[in-house]
Amino acid sequence: MSTVNDMAEMPVQLPREPANAAEARSRYFNSGNAFNIKLPPVPGRIFTDEPAQALALQQTGFINCDLSGELECAFPATTPLMLARYAVIKAGETLDTTLNNTASIWYVIKGRAGLTVGDEKASLGKGDVFLLPGGTPSAIAAAEDCVLWAVGNDPQLRFDQSVPRTGEAAAVRFVHYPAAEIEYQLGVVYGTNANASTSGHALIFSAEKTEAARNITPTMTLSLNTLKPKSSQPPHKHNSAAITLAVAGDPAYSMVADVKCDWSPWATLITPPAAKHSHHNDGDSRAEFLIVQDGGLYYHARTMGFEFY
Ligand SMILES: [Fe+2]
Repeated sequence: MSTVNDMAEMPVQLPREPANAAEARSRYFNSGNAFNIKLPPVPGRIFTDEPAQALALQQTGFINCDLSGELECAFPATTPLMLARYAVIKAGETLDTTLNNTASIWYVIKGRAGLTVGDEKASLGKGDVFLLPGGTPSAIAAAEDCVLWAVGNDPQLRFDQSVPRTGEAAAVRFVHYPAAEIEYQLGVVYGTNANASTSGHALIFSAEKTEAARNITPTMTLSLNTLKPKSSQPPHKHNSAAITLAVAGDPAYSMVADVKCDWSPWATLITPPAAKHSHHNDGDSRAEFLIVQDGGLYYHARTMGFEFY
């Protein structure tokens, strides 16, 4: 018998006389000790060194915005369920972009390249957005020095030790959103009036396969948000984590949990789950920022928790 009186102090309980290996693998905890693991919170953070390193164009490869140390996570992660990274591809070189995630969302910061996804091909240019299905062989061949930004749900799959389904069973297909088409579609949105229940003019990216849910992947959402000169977004919060790429804004900043985060070119900002936040444009030109959230997951679980302050 245990000599510990408080159930919260008890060690794991093991099976007494397991009859086989499957029984031997069982473990037991109790209502006192099972729920007292303290995970470190998701920090508010703006990554500026990683984009600077990427734009220095030293070598072809990925530069992760990795907070796995602070998150006490065993694999690279920017938030518990998403990984943001910059990709550098030197002119004439090719980067394998086959990743272990359901999907990754990409933005071309600079350069021109050819993209191959399975047996499909596309030409990429600055400002293009594209969606890659995980597990499907893909590669980017740079015609000139390229820097891209990508967010995938790699940590979600690592957490669950799962692999993406591919081919006809894949959750997403390859989708290309060329820069000129994005600009046109954003113009259509600008031609309408924003009402009080929206937070400014934003273009939400979706795809044929996820149109019904209005998401870009089952668990992730992508939005190109804009702020007119000298304007700001009202403070709000949601339980989804957000990863934001600063596309344009001179000067612009975000308030995250009452901490001011100044934007710098192509910086990546983390908005932790349930943190109060707002984005601000102090400049004379339009601010633009690309936001990936694990919002599809929370929306499906009915736990989005969106509130204005
Ligand atoms: Fe938000």
